[in-house]
Amino acid sequence: MPNECWSPASWRAKPAEQMPVFTDKGALAAVESQLAGFPPLVFAGEARKLKRMLGKVAAGEAFLLQGGDCAESFAEHAADNIRDFFRVFLQMAVVTTFAAALPVVKLGRIAGQFAKPRSAPDETIDGLTLPSYRGDIVNDIAFDARAREPDPERQLMAYRQSAATLNLIRAFATGGYANLENAHGWMLGFIKDSPQSARYEELASRITETLGFMRAIGLDPESHQEMRQTDFYTSHEALLLGYEEALTRIDSTTGDHYATSGHMIWIGDRTRNPDHAHVEYARGVKNPIGLKCGPTLKPEELLKLIDILNPANEPGRLTLICRFGAEKAQERLPDLIRAVQREGRSLVWSCDPMHGNTVKAAGGYKTRPFDKIMSEIRTFFSVHRAEGTYAGGVHLEMTGKNVTECIGGARAISEADLRDRYHTYCDPRLNAEQAIEVAFLVAELLKAERIERGRAHADAAA
Ligand code: PEP
Ligand code: CO
Repeated sequence: MPNECWSPASWRAKPAEQMPVFTDKGALAAVESQLAGFPPLVFAGEARKLKRMLGKVAAGEAFLLQGGDCAESFAEHAADNIRDFFRVFLQMAVVTTFAAALPVVKLGRIAGQFAKPRSAPDETIDGLTLPSYRGDIVNDIAFDARAREPDPERQLMAYRQSAATLNLIRAFATGGYANLENAHGWMLGFIKDSPQSARYEELASRITETLGFMRAIGLDPESHQEMRQTDFYTSHEALLLGYEEALTRIDSTTGDHYATSGHMIWIGDRTRNPDHAHVEYARGVKNPIGLKCGPTLKPEELLKLIDILNPANEPGRLTLICRFGAEKAQERLPDLIRAVQREGRSLVWSCDPMHGNTVKAAGGYKTRPFDKIMSEIRTFFSVHRAEGTYAGGVHLEMTGKNVTECIGGARAISEADLRDRYHTYCDPRLNAEQAIEVAFLVAELLKAERIERGRAHADAAA
């Protein structure tokens, strides 16, 4: 309950879903105490800045773009993966910023997205049953008994990989690579190669003209820092609570506790029981918090969670990441929106069109049809429009690489193509082209919203 005494360890007295069982408790405790002595990965001041920006999203004055791997892996920790992801993400941000004519909050599922909830505790192949893979921070994906044994030492590796990833991202974001003209140039390259180029050309050429005009009047990246730098934030599911507890620190300027493992942390759809450990941990840290909302979440339960997680109704504190599935969104979302509106709660509504649209394809591959992803995003926008609320963001599983994990898109990836480059450690991700295509669709929806807002404004003034 909200007024019960909270500490970074108070979650330990509550039931915890989806947590691995470590057999060597001594080794686990040693790792946790080592982590507790390590430097924080992010600073409280940055988390506060993200919260302020999300407060703008809640007020309809900014848009949230959140995305990255379903699960980061130790094996794929190469600079070019991070660079390619960052490039794609920036292109998406340019398109959506222009269409919405609003700031876009850039939030990666990166530099800490290692722990995974699973639908079954075990996996059976050819008669052999072993513990499920729970992300590289817990165990190894290889299907053998030693690899699947949860190993606490992996948390040290996850911490160090997060630090290295964050270091490169900070360099990209502030060292000139994020230059707006670069991002636009990459986007033009994407359009040239896309089978759908005609559809994207108009928007792209308007951005080209705008940048030319700005340069002509002296607004260029060389003389304007805002045009060559950006703020990029990190997020992950706070699932492995011992790790999170060890990285929880008191901010010296405010005396408040912050999770320093990432700027935003979120609570998964399987671990959002209001009386359980994950909600208990999240309620006490001051970071922005995400809450996954799946089809089983009832309006009363949502209100209870909002009371626990954001009792002061602070704008930007709570982001609801809705993941109903293309078919269920129309039916489930309005009741949640109405309950929140009735209670006058300030929060960010974001759409995760990935996790409710996973299907099994031939060959046993988990995939997501591109059309379903698009359809859930469209429904999300249209429901918000009908309810008079703001569709504030999207949450995507994506990569900067040319993988074949989701079917469909402009290149019409088929079920038979999945085997070509199916590299994910967990759920199927949008590849670089598909992710940019989603951004163009979102841009169309945002532009329609902007025009609608302008019209309402003009009507009110008349
Ligand atoms: C995820 O975001 O990878 C995930 C497991 O989501 P959810 O909790 O919504 O199922
Ligand atoms: Co996932």
